[in-house]
Amino acid sequence: MSTTLITGGTVVSATGRAQADVLVDGERIVALISPGATPFGRIEADVTIDATGKYVIPGGVDAHTHMQLPFGGTNASDTFETGTRAAAWGGTTTIIDFAVQRYGERVQDGLARWHELAAGNCAIDYGFHQIIGGVDDDALKAMDTLVDEGITSYKLFMAYPGVFYSDDAQVLRAMQKATDHGLLTMMHAENGPAIDVLAAQLAESGKTSPYYHGIARAWQMEEEATHRAIMLADVAGAPLYVVHVSAKQAVEQLAGARDRGRNVFGETCPQYLYLSLEEQLGASSEEWGDFEGAKWVCSTPLRSREEGHQDAMWQALRTNDLQMVSTDHCPFCMKEQKELGKDDFRAIPNGIGSIEHRVDLLYQGVVTGQITLERWVELIATTPARMFGLYGRKGVIAPGADADIVVYDPAGHTSIGVGEGRTHHMNMDHSAWEGFEIDGHVDVVLSRGSVVVADGEFQGTKGHGSYLKRDLSQYLV
Ligand code: URP
Ligand code: ZN
Ligand code: ZN
Ligand code: ZN
Repeated sequence: MSTTLITGGTVVSATGRAQADVLVDGERIVALISPGATPFGRIEADVTIDATGKYVIPGGVDAHTHMQLPFGGTNASDTFETGTRAAAWGGTTTIIDFAVQRYGERVQDGLARWHELAAGNCAIDYGFHQIIGGVDDDALKAMDTLVDEGITSYKLFMAYPGVFYSDDAQVLRAMQKATDHGLLTMMHAENGPAIDVLAAQLAESGKTSPYYHGIARAWQMEEEATHRAIMLADVAGAPLYVVHVSAKQAVEQLAGARDRGRNVFGETCPQYLYLSLEEQLGASSEEWGDFEGAKWVCSTPLRSREEGHQDAMWQALRTNDLQMVSTDHCPFCMKEQKELGKDDFRAIPNGIGSIEHRVDLLYQGVVTGQITLERWVELIATTPARMFGLYGRKGVIAPGADADIVVYDPAGHTSIGVGEGRTHHMNMDHSAWEGFEIDGHVDVVLSRGSVVVADGEFQGTKGHGSYLKRDLSQYLV
């Protein structure tokens, strides 16, 4: 086991910042040392990393990813190997991916398949949430053993009828089961049946381009489902975590419930902070015409900038009405994947790939003064670790924690995209973030004490990442 000393940097946590050297022994952080102090005599480490002028932050925890997700007749294009490598490039050292159970399938079988896909393939540590895509007696019984598997949260869908959809009766029964075991219910809150009616009407009237994906999935559909999810959770006595929040009206629902003392939480994603219905879903290009917008077809959809949703997401991150930022990383190539919906937006596989860029994109909020440095760390690492039962091991730089560490250079620069001289390691033929110029740069990344990124090179290994059995959420009372 070797020792590593990270010297000269500013260690940033969710609650403050301090000049400190960080000593790593093997896989763990063992000490934070004031500059110049020599409590153990002069410290000699096997490896020294100079972080002078840079931030030393806990590795990012991305609590919402979909490697290889089967969706719309294809699979998300990042494998656990390519997706976790891209995550490491971007300063994320833990992912929580969604194991999938679909209707007619046993939860245990879906989970076993996910373990097979991930084991031995990840560059960084990983945990699972469980998607329950078919709530029946068998699936409800399987929920009894999730905590033993280290899975303390599961996702339901009020959207996607015929795929992952649960009706209100199923949602209520699952939430009651969650209450029994302290599981956190993660909700895809959109009114799927109503959306499907609107989508069919649009398509039948010839409105088939990607833009209409956003029109069909109106904010009212998100607000209504968010409200319904809050009420069902209240009746069940279950805590609730709403995923990929994009509508300002949905945030208002969450904020209202929190003000009434409810155990209700929400995440947003970089796409809902930066991108819009008009600019992206409505885009057109020489190569793809108005199908260009397919690059940004995801659900919930990108929202109108005129209506102010993006500003509302930033505000909610400041006021803690939204608690964290995950990517919902679900990449599909344009060729042969998004293309499936060339003639009908309803057949475009839903999802955007961002796992590599979340840390950088959120740092721009610090640069522009929308969030503090400490809040940045909290949103990308500390709260996700606490919310999903990893805190102490992940999400913090402190003695005893796993040495998942990022040296971030605020004076560095990152040009995102697949174009010449740009940065993109996800397994996609395009970038949803092409052309984004980032103030800041992920210089060095450690995963459990091993350098995985340094000197502009990936130095990690497939299989280094191991499965994280998670504790219950530390936010639940
Ligand atoms: O468009 C999305 N979000 N695709 C991934 C599946 C989901 O609903 O999270
Ligand atoms: Zn979803
Ligand atoms: Zn998702
Ligand atoms: Zn740099």
